[in-house]
Amino acid sequence: LNRDIRVVQVGLGPLGKMIAKHIINERKGIRYVGAVDISPELVGMDLGEAVGLEGKVGVKVGVDAAKVFKATKPDIAIYTTTSFARDTFKQLEAAIAAKVDVISTCEQLSYPYFSEPKLAAKYDKLAREAGVSILGTGINPGFLMDVRPIVLTAACTEVKRLEITRRMDASLRRKPFQKKIGAGLTKAEFKRFMKEGKITGHVGLEESLCLIAAALDWPLDTVVVEEAQAVIAEAPVASPFYQVKKGQVKGVRQEAYGVIDGEPVIKLSFAAYLGADPSYDEVYIEGTPEIRARVSPCWHGDHGTVAMVVNLIPSVIDARPGVLTMNDLVSISFKGGEMSCFVKGKK
Ligand SMILES: NC(=O)c1ccc[n+]([C@@H]2O[C@H](COP(=O)([O-])OP(=O)(O)OC[C@H]3O[C@@H](n4cnc5c(N)ncnc54)[C@H](OP(=O)(O)O)[C@@H]3O)[C@@H](O)[C@H]2O)c1
Repeated sequence: LNRDIRVVQVGLGPLGKMIAKHIINERKGIRYVGAVDISPELVGMDLGEAVGLEGKVGVKVGVDAAKVFKATKPDIAIYTTTSFARDTFKQLEAAIAAKVDVISTCEQLSYPYFSEPKLAAKYDKLAREAGVSILGTGINPGFLMDVRPIVLTAACTEVKRLEITRRMDASLRRKPFQKKIGAGLTKAEFKRFMKEGKITGHVGLEESLCLIAAALDWPLDTVVVEEAQAVIAEAPVASPFYQVKKGQVKGVRQEAYGVIDGEPVIKLSFAAYLGADPSYDEVYIEGTPEIRARVSPCWHGDHGTVAMVVNLIPSVIDARPGVLTMNDLVSISFKGGEMSCFVKGKK
């Protein structure tokens, strides 16, 4: 494009606000032409004020995405509204109808072919027909427990097993994240809230497993995701948002496995709690060569998500139409199946 990329922000929770502030303050060649949120207190405000900046940016927050797209004709919409593909797909109808590309932090959208295969196929067809590219991404899922290990396997001649661990100090994250991992609840409340869907823990382990398996051509027999467990504080611990007493919940831990012939060939181990020390992200590859790649302290999830979303905008605009995954954008990995390739235009 020989002009600025035109973007609309849909969803102005803490993450949408962080992305908007970052683009407005720090990025060149891209500018907001619209914004949408359903919270009455934000609708009608100037985007600059809505995200806590001093000055106005001359863009009003609207409530109806279809109207905003029609009036502003953006190149791409950034959706930071929900974690669930079913909800997000419904919201994306406005973008598809207006032929606007989409990048979203919806966790299930990072591999919707697992949680919502029928809807994913339906919206993939609609997106292809409309010439619209749709990508779910972020730091996790989107990078740490899938793309990072996938890329590391590209330099291996053999991969037998992968073990990926994220241990995060959640006290550094935004409030909705601390809330969804149950910080400050009793153990009984944690169980009840999880059952009632009031808190979700981490969403995305299934999607990360599927992204890895698809990249490596590993035909998983089963995807096993264990129940999320409360991590109980052995001593008081605090964050800017929660004071957790001894015996209360300070976060969550959960494991997931990708199984072939009874063998857990991919293991994901996720823990996020206030005060986790040490915090780290680790990829272990049992193969040739054997690799243990640890990043410590753990990658900051919110800054990482803002970065993934903003840095990938040009790639999504340039990508083919359809409901894409990170494997469509980052295509280097160990190839565990029969070698094959796809020559453009010769499918
Ligand atoms: N993949 C990753 O690595 C990653 C990383 C970080 C976050 N995430 C996910 O990204 C999402 C956003 O994070 P957050 O902390 O900002 O969440 P949040 O606090 O739930 O904010 C979502 C915002 O979107 C608004 N909204 C909901 N439905 C809408 C719709 N149909 N149209 C317009 N606005 C709508 C909400 O309004 P109300 O409050 O009025 O409902 C709220 O202001 C979450 O689902 C989070 O789990 C993913």
